[in-house]
Amino acid sequence: RTVAVVLAGGTGQRIGLSIPKQLLKIAGKPILEHTLQIFEAAPDVDDVLVLMTPDHVAEARRIVARAGFRKVSHVIAGGATRSETTTLAIEAAAALPGGDEDCNLLFHDAVRPLLSQRVITECVEALNRYRAVDVAIPSADTVIVTRTHGDDGEFITEVPDRARLGRGQTPQGFRLSTIRRAYELAAADPLFRATDDCSVVVKYLPDVPVHVVTGDEYNMKITQPVDVFIADKLFQLASTTAPAHSAEKFYRDRLSGRTMLVFGG
Ligand code: CTP
Repeated sequence: RTVAVVLAGGTGQRIGLSIPKQLLKIAGKPILEHTLQIFEAAPDVDDVLVLMTPDHVAEARRIVARAGFRKVSHVIAGGATRSETTTLAIEAAAALPGGDEDCNLLFHDAVRPLLSQRVITECVEALNRYRAVDVAIPSADTVIVTRTHGDDGEFITEVPDRARLGRGQTPQGFRLSTIRRAYELAAADPLFRATDDCSVVVKYLPDVPVHVVTGDEYNMKITQPVDVFIADKLFQLASTTAPAHSAEKFYRDRLSGRTMLVFGG
């Protein structure tokens, strides 16, 4: 059994609007609704939990009711940090009817509304063999490590080999008992800080291998204002192809001159 957890508890400070970014409309629908639609349509997913910014739970419930999503069983308030939201989600998933220790949990950022069914299926399949699964793509950029020197600004301390670096996306999948144990250990660490869930397993359960599934470039995280524009364009493209994620083929055809639509034109 697989439960998808949609993490929508943030406020979107980097976008800086008065509403959380997951409520922004792209291609006519709130970003949250696009994301939930993907899990609703996923044959591998049985149940969906939504963890929403506390002040906007009612709005998220309205979105779910209006769209008629049948797999979304609970919309509850998230926590003050992403990790707190994850912890609340683990408790909620364990309390679901049939929420036995070995169910699969897939944690997904609400603000990645272009996730493909291919990635969901590969994560669920990987969870038959591994207790933890990440999704990542190669880094096109060289990544630098820096240190700040007083008022002089930042200086490079290291340039890791790009070939060994990946950019982590979501979903991140776990057996419930594994991620629960990792967060129990993290709770006892006063220095605990994390921006994702796989890093919690890597740090606190170093013997658990975390398998990596190849993600895709479309599975972007809407983080900065420019990302809203890019995602909107991607939805426009997706709407000219069916299903949405044949967009990849669409791009290839376009680049090879077989499709005449002018991007941004
Ligand atoms: N998230 C969450 N609970 C939090 C903080 C974040 O569920 N307390 C979710 C966000 O809603 C988002 C995902 O985690 O779907 C990725 O986080 P991020 O992009 O950092 O979202 P925000 O925290 O909303 O953005 P910002 O950091 O700009 O404030």
